[in-house]
Amino acid sequence: MSASTEDPKPPGAQSLLQTCVEGLDVVLGGGLPAGSLYLIQGLAGSGKTTLAGQIGFRHARQGKKVLVLTLLGESHGKMINHFANFSFFDDALVGKEIVFFSAYASLVKGGLRDLLQLIIATMSQQQPAILIIDGFRSVRNLSATDLAVAEFMHSLNSLVASMGCTTFLLSPVEGNVTDNENTLVDGVIELGQYRIGMGVIRELQVFKVRGAKHLLGRHVFEVKSEGLVVYPRFEAMVTHCKAPSTETHRLSVGIPSWDPRLGGGVIAGSITCLLGSPGAKSAQYRYRAAAPPRQRRAAGDLAAATGSSDRRPGRAHARVHSHTQHQAPVDRWRRRAREPDHPSRALARLAHRPDQRAAAAPGDGLHH
Ligand SMILES: Nc1ncnc2c1ncn2[C@@H]1O[C@H](COP(=O)(O)OP(=O)(O)OP(=O)(O)O)[C@@H](O)[C@H]1O
Ligand SMILES: [Mg+2]
Repeated sequence: MSASTEDPKPPGAQSLLQTCVEGLDVVLGGGLPAGSLYLIQGLAGSGKTTLAGQIGFRHARQGKKVLVLTLLGESHGKMINHFANFSFFDDALVGKEIVFFSAYASLVKGGLRDLLQLIIATMSQQQPAILIIDGFRSVRNLSATDLAVAEFMHSLNSLVASMGCTTFLLSPVEGNVTDNENTLVDGVIELGQYRIGMGVIRELQVFKVRGAKHLLGRHVFEVKSEGLVVYPRFEAMVTHCKAPSTETHRLSVGIPSWDPRLGGGVIAGSITCLLGSPGAKSAQYRYRAAAPPRQRRAAGDLAAATGSSDRRPGRAHARVHSHTQHQAPVDRWRRRAREPDHPSRALARLAHRPDQRAAAAPGDGLHH
């Protein structure tokens, strides 16, 4: 086992087999628990064979035995030609670390019983660390009943688990359905694609991986000359480790007189909009909140930096208003509001003495 592709886990936990596919191990939470049975599904041309081959060749290059069984009518030559298009392909590994077998004839001739016998015999002989079975849909298509498929899946799962062989079944289906294939495997990875205008976007989704904390949802991928490249959704990565917090931990804004008014400060992790007219020195508050407490106390530093002569801590609130460019008109309005003939005072008087409303005459301020 290579240290670079199997990640040690806490005692008792399954070791992880890294896929070595760019971005996919991030989506899988580090890799796939080794020795388990995985279904790679997706419609024709979605990239199943490419993905499995990419994983197989990367591990074969590290000296692991990889067995590729095809249940397709097509020849191995075609499959090898397909892999030869990609940079992960290495002709020198074919027939040595990575071996190809056709199981189609056994399946057609003897059904699932013969297929299972062939798989057991080939695995005993090759002792693979990774098994890829392409064209797995043939198992369902050539099975008489759902029970037969379920029994086959159980036997295969036990076999690969006992041999510690990480196994990939490739099937051209879509969706997280309740088929035996989906429920009796340890993980389901779907490759899909959808149209945007004239173009097509490829997407990968991990429906389940038993024993792994994988990212949910869909992630864009490309098929490039090096094989699949997966781009894990940024927002899924950010929210993966921590669910959105419901706790209301308060963060001091750095101004002692403000914190009690804000219920102890702003809620940590929240966004607070600081409104003010140009020149209201909102930057000054940013500095205060960000500064270490010792510097916060030395409000003079901030006041000096912003050109204020008020060096007293705790007076920042007043200072903002005194520095507001539009403070003078506001002060004038406040003084005027205190005058007895101000319209707002006349309105307040009327509100308390409704009987005088009718008597309200022009000139008492109501029309101003
Ligand atoms: N060298 C390459 N570079 C980039 N893209 C390629 C290359 N070779 C093939 N492709 C693309 O990769 C796609 C995936 O092919 P692949 O055979 O892996 O799909 P699949 O899901 O196995 O299909 P099927 O169900 O028919 O077997 C192809 O349809 C093609 O668009
Ligand atoms: Mg294929």
